[in-house]
Amino acid sequence: MPDASPPVETVVEVDTRAPGTAISPDLFGAFFEDLNYAADGGLYAELVQNRSFEYGPADRPEWHSLTAWELLERDGAAGSLTVSTDDPLHPANPHHAVLTSTTNKGAGLRNEGFDGIPVRAGEAYDVSLFARLAEGTAGRLVARIESRDGERVHGQTELGPLDGSWRHRTAVITSEVTDPDARLTLTATGPGTVHLDLVSLFPQNTFKGRRNGLRADLAQAIADLKPKFLRFPGGCLAHGQGLGNMYRWSETVGPLHERRQQFNIWHYHQSMGLGYYEYFQFCEDIGAKPVPVVPAGVCCQNSDVTGQVGIPDEEMDAYVAEVLALVQWANGPADSPWGALRAAAGHPEPFGLAYLGVGNEDAITDTFRDRFSRIHDALREHHPEITVIGTLGPATVGEDWEKGWAFARERNVPVVDEHSYKSPRWLLENSRRFDRMDREGPHLYIGEYGSWRNDGRGALAEALYMIAMERNGDVVRMASYAPLLAKRDHTQWLPDLIYFDNTNVWTTLNYHVQQMHSLNSGDTALPVTVTGAPQAPAVQVSDRHDIRIGTGSDTRAEFTDVLFGAVGDELVPAPDFHNWDTQAGTWGIDGATAAGSGAGPLLTDAVRGTSYAFCVRARKTDGAEGFVLCFTGTTSDRRYQWRLGGWDNRATWLQRVDDGVPDDLGERVLEGVESGRWYDLRVEVDGLRVRCFRDGELLHDVEDVRPDPEVFAVSAVRDSAAGHVIVKIANTTPDPVTVRLRLIGAEGATGYDRTTLTVSPDAASRYGPAPAVPVHDRLTGPVCAVPGHSFTVLRTRTRHSMPVSSETSDRGRAW
Ligand code: AHR
Repeated sequence: MPDASPPVETVVEVDTRAPGTAISPDLFGAFFEDLNYAADGGLYAELVQNRSFEYGPADRPEWHSLTAWELLERDGAAGSLTVSTDDPLHPANPHHAVLTSTTNKGAGLRNEGFDGIPVRAGEAYDVSLFARLAEGTAGRLVARIESRDGERVHGQTELGPLDGSWRHRTAVITSEVTDPDARLTLTATGPGTVHLDLVSLFPQNTFKGRRNGLRADLAQAIADLKPKFLRFPGGCLAHGQGLGNMYRWSETVGPLHERRQQFNIWHYHQSMGLGYYEYFQFCEDIGAKPVPVVPAGVCCQNSDVTGQVGIPDEEMDAYVAEVLALVQWANGPADSPWGALRAAAGHPEPFGLAYLGVGNEDAITDTFRDRFSRIHDALREHHPEITVIGTLGPATVGEDWEKGWAFARERNVPVVDEHSYKSPRWLLENSRRFDRMDREGPHLYIGEYGSWRNDGRGALAEALYMIAMERNGDVVRMASYAPLLAKRDHTQWLPDLIYFDNTNVWTTLNYHVQQMHSLNSGDTALPVTVTGAPQAPAVQVSDRHDIRIGTGSDTRAEFTDVLFGAVGDELVPAPDFHNWDTQAGTWGIDGATAAGSGAGPLLTDAVRGTSYAFCVRARKTDGAEGFVLCFTGTTSDRRYQWRLGGWDNRATWLQRVDDGVPDDLGERVLEGVESGRWYDLRVEVDGLRVRCFRDGELLHDVEDVRPDPEVFAVSAVRDSAAGHVIVKIANTTPDPVTVRLRLIGAEGATGYDRTTLTVSPDAASRYGPAPAVPVHDRLTGPVCAVPGHSFTVLRTRTRHSMPVSSETSDRGRAW
């Protein structure tokens, strides 16, 4: 047996006496978007689905005003359930239900809730509705919470009296049992016709007991993150699918039945019960600064309907006034016109709005520039106290990102919002990017980011990337993971931070990482020297290359005439498809032609050398997307895929793939794939250069130069108020590391409170408990055993905690 080499010690030296660099007090927050059923059926505690009968095909083609409702004709009752728009409760709420009972025994209607109605024994539920007796003697309604099969009544009450005008009626039902899948029924007490609107069943047990409030357990999970701010309501939801779908804050405040409901860009419905008042109240309840995002006067450029369009010139003044009104609504005195509305809703004190996002991932076009400038100018003039957050488009590179930065600098926009959904490896490779940021330019808000995975690898990469943000907390001013919430069976985006169903809340590994950071933030970044840190394994030259052909989702295609060889040489025919590795059953092989769907035949070791090229002819025969060509690079860590007609056949682009997770390389060409047409596709890989040709046209030309990944990262911060120094260590390698801590100026420190999250890279979970949770213990000496694949936080008291001021900050900036 060879001698085991002694474990290498990594020394982490922190100068606790140094002035350090001031860290933004708002660094780690949260971002809420109504995606994945995050609002209705999620955080918003309403239990009745389609309570205002406003569902329709704009939400989802098969939906209508009575979706989630059904007529009840029990025990000999007979009648009908229809919808009317005559003489509505309010113009913003045009539809109402018409329940007609034709027998003495009243007919009724029943709501299925959002995947059922969960109730708990002994808990009280407010049932309320607007009703009007149009005809007959059905002067009251019986409301029941009952079992799904209707066999058991869990609790009931009566609502009335009703007359010929719209009346708001409320009562309380206390459920006798716990039932995760109950129903709400309303039954007329006699023959006649009753009009119904805004039928609500609301638990009294909401977060902080707020009326029209939030689901307590979900809100608590967000509160437990201790976010410094909460960004809302989107995302794409904010700027909307076409101008009419923009999220207009002023339409989401005031009485519920006066709020204009909207289809959700994520293909369902927004009742707007969770509107700006409720968002602001929630922020206050959890001690987070509100960060609303208003559209920058343009809708989403990806809108199927119109693409990016600006609010018409003649309507812009009114729109700008609406944005200014938001500031008055949030911060103005209770006797100001908009402040009075806030006060009437129950909050006479200002909410203390300090940040306002203007725009989300918008393409930086002339229209955008014009609309943004008008809003920005008005805010600067009338509300210089508000910090405006601009946008950098959807990516971390490319035209919009560059133009976004230039525009923000030109206009002196104080903060810009960048979004980065990336592979774990990208996060490790780019942890140094903030070190190079212009210290005098706009601050960065990483408004949406995440590792594309809810596994250990992703969570630890995020821990490391957040360390990088913290080290640069003088310019990285804010950051929020996205998306925040996802409901089981309605998850539209992966990954997410918190999963839930009607009765469970599951926090992820990524959640624990966020929480470990936010509970251990500091005000000052201290200088750290790390000696002997583990490094990423060296990259090897790779001269054997694999090629795989395939299609995008739900797409069928044929491939033929594969040629390959060295770049510059005449290409020769590849072995016919019988010699490739095929996915059983899904691909039909006929010698030189392969036809099928999904990941297709793979040719391993297809070509050798540090440069190679291959060609293939491809024809889409059916489906929503196009082709996917996968191939390896000339170093051991490089794999690529060329997606033609991806993103619902809207674009063609090149991606790198790490750990099975793709990241875009360069910009997308907004062109899809035509069905029935043969395409000549050619790929050339030459050293680090990758070029892709379609029918002889060079579509992508990328030099894939990447920084070395930082696999082991450390930050140290001072928490001046507590008199603590906090050291964070992300070890993304498999190897345990012995870390010797040297805290200069805190030599008397007697030990550390330690929190460790250790997780295997592939451990993942979604609808269930996270595969690992942080473990707390006490480290008594200076030597810390840091496990492989772990994130460690060490907190100790120091006698040298120094107040932060601009004079003491190393980078001369204070917050
Ligand atoms: O978080 C999901 C979406 O990702 C957001 O709506 C959008 O801003 C981004 O593209």
